[in-house]
Amino acid sequence: MRQVRTLGLLGTGVIGGGWAARALHFGIDVIAADVKPQMEEWIRGAVANAEGALARLTFAPLPPPGKLSFTTDLAAMARQADFIQENIPEQLELKQRVLADVSRHAPPDVVIASSTSGLMPSDLQRDMVAPERLLVAHPFNPVYLLPLVELVGGRQTAEDTVAAAARFYTYIGMHPLRVRREVPGHLTDRLQEALWREILHMVNEDVATTGELDDSIVYGPGLRWAGMGTNLIYHLAGGETGMRHMLRQFGPCLKWPWTKLEAPELSDALIDKMVAGTQAQAAGRSIRELERLRDDYLVAIQQVLREYNIGAGATLRALEERLYESSAAAARAPLAAAAAGERPTGPLRLLETRVRPEWIDYHGHMTDARYLQVFGDATDALFRYAGIDDAYRRSGRGLYTVETRVTHKAAARLSEPLYVMTRVLEVDDKRVRLQHALHRARDEALVASAEQLYVHVRTDEGRAAPLDTAVRARLQELQAATR
Ligand SMILES: NC(=O)c1ccc[n+]([C@@H]2O[C@H](COP(=O)([O-])OP(=O)(O)OC[C@H]3O[C@@H](n4cnc5c(N)ncnc54)[C@H](O)[C@@H]3O)[C@@H](O)[C@H]2O)c1
Repeated sequence: MRQVRTLGLLGTGVIGGGWAARALHFGIDVIAADVKPQMEEWIRGAVANAEGALARLTFAPLPPPGKLSFTTDLAAMARQADFIQENIPEQLELKQRVLADVSRHAPPDVVIASSTSGLMPSDLQRDMVAPERLLVAHPFNPVYLLPLVELVGGRQTAEDTVAAAARFYTYIGMHPLRVRREVPGHLTDRLQEALWREILHMVNEDVATTGELDDSIVYGPGLRWAGMGTNLIYHLAGGETGMRHMLRQFGPCLKWPWTKLEAPELSDALIDKMVAGTQAQAAGRSIRELERLRDDYLVAIQQVLREYNIGAGATLRALEERLYESSAAAARAPLAAAAAGERPTGPLRLLETRVRPEWIDYHGHMTDARYLQVFGDATDALFRYAGIDDAYRRSGRGLYTVETRVTHKAAARLSEPLYVMTRVLEVDDKRVRLQHALHRARDEALVASAEQLYVHVRTDEGRAAPLDTAVRARLQELQAATR
C-alpha cells in the first residue's frame, strides 16, 4: 500500500467536508469529487469553518497545510488519489455502483474506504475491481474533531488493507477501532440507535421532552462517558467486587420492561414533538452557532483528557508526539551532516513554519508568546537529535529553560512562511545555551532573535544534575559545527 499524500473524497457533504478539514490540517492534499458542482463552494466553506476549532486542538508543530482541489470528474479523482474515502448518501445500490465505477479507475494499491454508518463491507465490495482494498471506515461528526473511526473488513478485504488504513488514520490524529466482524450498524451506531429508540418511545408516550432526555445524559452519564465507557463505569459502580456484583444486583432488571427493542412508529405527531422539542432546546440559536459551541467544548474536553492520558486525550497525546517527531525528523539530516562535517557550518535551519491565524495580535502581527513557541519547537528538534526525547524525559531527566532573551526586528503577518536558524553557543556539564534566529522566507529578513539558557535537571528530584555523557558529546559536536 502506498504512502498517502493525496486523499480523494467521493461525496463532499457534511462528512466529506469533515474529512477534508482534518486531512488538510495535517498536511495531506485533498481532491474532493462530487456530482454537484455547487459543492465546491460548500466544501471550501466547511473547511474554513472547521479551521477555527482545529487550530486550537494542539500547539505541536504542524506541517504546511495540504492543498484542496475540487472536481466533478470522479474518475480523474480516482486516478490521482493515494487513498479514497467515500461519503455519498447511505443507499446500498448507489454506493455499490459508484464504488465499482471508481475502482475501475483507481490503481489496485489504492485503499478505498467507505464512511457508511451501517452498511456491510461485503455488500459494498461486491462489484469492485480489486475488492480486497475496500473497507468500512466509519467516522463521527464532526470528523475534524472526533478521533474515533470504526474499521470493518468484508469477506474479501485483505488484512493489509485494514492495517494500511489504520496507519493513515492514526497519522491524521484518529483512533482506529477495529471491529472484529461485520454487523449492521457496526458498534457505535448500534449502541446509539438503542438509546435513540428509547428516546423516541419516551417522547411518543409523553414521558419526557427531548430537552429532559438530553439533560438525563448531559448532567450524568455523558460526563462519565468521555473518559470511561459503560462497562468500566459499571465495574466501578459494583463496589469492591466490581462487575460481578453489578450483574448480580442489576441483572434481574434486564428482564424487567425497562427498555423496548422495537422502534415506535414514526407518526407525524411523534415527528412534530421531536422537532418542536429540539427547536425549544436550540432557543433561537442557528445550527452554525451551535456547531461552534460544540466544537469549542470538544476541543476543551480533549485537552483536559490529555492531562489524564485517557480516551480521546491519549489519542491527542500520541498525535502530538508524532507531530514533534515528524518536525524533528526533518531537522535530523542537517544536524547529522553538520556534526559529521570537517568545517563549521554556522547556524542550522531547524524549523519551517508559517504564521497561523490564532497567532495574530490586534496589529495583525504574530503575537509575543508565539515567538517562544516557535523557538521552543526548534529547540525540541535539536534536543531530540542529541538524545533528549520522550524516553529520556521518562527516565527522570530533562532540560529546563532558565533564561530567554528575545529581540524583535521585523513583523511577521498571517500565513507568512518562516524558518528558524539555530546555533549551540555553549555546553558544560549542566548547562546548554542556544541562539535562534527567526527569518521570513519571502525576503530572508530577520524577524527576531533569541538566546536561551537551559539547565539540566533530575526532574524527579527537582535539582540540577550533570548531562548524560552521550547527550553532552552530541551537543558539543553541534557547538563545534554551528560556530
Ligand atoms: N452525517 C453524519 O453524521 C454521518 C456520520 C458518519 C457517517 N456518515 C455517512 O457518511 C455518508 C455521507 O453522509 P453525509 O451526511 O455527508 O451526506 P450528505 O448528504 O451531506 O452528502 C452526500 C454528498 O454526496 C454527493 N453525491 C451524491 N451522489 C453522488 C455520486 N454518485 N458521486 C459523487 N457524489 C455524490 C451529494 O451531492 C452530497 O454532496 C453516508 O454514508 C453516511 O451514512 C454520516
